[in-house]
Amino acid sequence: MGSETPTTTLPRKLEGYDFYREVLGSPKYIVAPMVDQSELPFRRLCRRYGGQLVYTPMIHAKLFADNTKKYRNQFFNIPCGEEGDPSTDRPLIVQFCANDPEYLLTSAKVVEKHCDGVDINLGCPQDIARKGKYGAFLQDDWDLIFKLINTLHKNLAVPVTAKFRVFPSIEKTVEYAQMLERAGAQILTCHGRAREQRGHNAGLASYEHIRAVKQNVSVPVFANGNILFQEDIERCLRETGCDGVMSAEGILYNPALFAGLAPSPTTSSPDDAALLARHPPHAALAQEYLDIVRTLRTPTSASAIKGHLFKILRPALLRHADLRERLGRVKVDQQQQGKNKRAATGAATPFWDTGLEPYVEVVREMGARLAQDAERELAGEGEEGARKSVVELVRVQEGTGLKLLPWWLAQPYWRPLRKGESPSWLAFRTLIDDILTQKRPKAADSPPAEGDAGDSEGPGKKAKVELAPVSIACAL
Ligand SMILES: Cc1cc2nc3c(=O)[nH]c(=O)nc-3n(C[C@H](O)[C@H](O)[C@H](O)COP(=O)(O)O)c2cc1C
Repeated sequence: MGSETPTTTLPRKLEGYDFYREVLGSPKYIVAPMVDQSELPFRRLCRRYGGQLVYTPMIHAKLFADNTKKYRNQFFNIPCGEEGDPSTDRPLIVQFCANDPEYLLTSAKVVEKHCDGVDINLGCPQDIARKGKYGAFLQDDWDLIFKLINTLHKNLAVPVTAKFRVFPSIEKTVEYAQMLERAGAQILTCHGRAREQRGHNAGLASYEHIRAVKQNVSVPVFANGNILFQEDIERCLRETGCDGVMSAEGILYNPALFAGLAPSPTTSSPDDAALLARHPPHAALAQEYLDIVRTLRTPTSASAIKGHLFKILRPALLRHADLRERLGRVKVDQQQQGKNKRAATGAATPFWDTGLEPYVEVVREMGARLAQDAERELAGEGEEGARKSVVELVRVQEGTGLKLLPWWLAQPYWRPLRKGESPSWLAFRTLIDDILTQKRPKAADSPPAEGDAGDSEGPGKKAKVELAPVSIACAL
């Protein structure tokens, strides 16, 4: 076991359930850390729709500690004053990946006044994490993990938390979680997939592992994995006994995933109003996201914007393929971005004061077309002519039993069944093939482009640029 780290004198901070209740407000619905995707405007959007606690994307502690202003402002922009703002961006947990306690502490100290806690990423399974020795590849070095957590526990003004993947063995997973707790982690997020479960081997998250963790530690535990619809949330909480559920992919495709659940979930009466509250028209959500981006002084990367639009609008992109291509072709004018950046330095001007128009136009056009689509389908044209409800238009996918909503509504996305694939494998195996148009960055420290698959927990490796194959739209 790792040796204890020296302590600095700090005012007493709340721990475990006191921290969870009194500082965080007992969140049950949690938005996951997502590189280049849980950025400030998306966090704000998710909060409006029921997200009760949100994590920042993973930040590379060493690069952040090295104090290159550019890197810091790109990943957690303090000068603009909006990230971690007490009235609009809290509760917030800032996540780092690290393998050196000193760098981690230096970085965490920079953000401690602007967040409620600092999380350590112990789950990234990607090759870049293997090479850099962080994320899930720290699982082999418990002493180092202990030191990382314990250093923050003893020296940081806010609590430290940890997000990790399970081991194949339940016993080892429990032992590991108990070590994280002993080191000082005040909340544990358990992603119920093992390090090896990535790419096409992602499979399902194991609630059995998560439940065992929950039963054997005293700090709050968040369950992560397998959440596509609201029905999955209740099931997950019931089966794992956890304090909250964390969603990544589900909420990327439907930022309203948590809508209407707090203060207490309404019964899922099968009427249109209930359905539309949970699955609003996605073009409206995309528009709302862009409106938030447009108001912020804090820069939002063009790759984050495009990534969100592709995911949110996804159910309709195959029916309106010309808009998918238009969105793919939108190029951010570099000169304009330069001007925006200069304007954003300390000034009150929003970063995307200009330059967002091509995105807005695509979203507006999509909204107009989908309104017509919806009107036509609900009017029952082409069939017997009787007016239908939205609920009547919901179908169930053969083989998986998963709901397919009309293509103008926000909904999760999963790959369609291929011949010979078992439904359970498919059900939660979201989208390697969701990489629509963008190239991913090469460096470990730069954010990935849109379309990261659910097995990722950090920067994506460079992927082939390709169009997604026809999938859900065909099944509708
Ligand atoms: C685009 C994307 C980016 C991600 N980035 C991070 C990250 O920065 N840190 C992290 O701990 N996990 C990251 N993950 C993993 C998720 O937080 C989550 O653990 C995983 O996707 C499983 O949850 P899900 O089934 O709800 O998608 C990322 C996932 C996605 C899809």
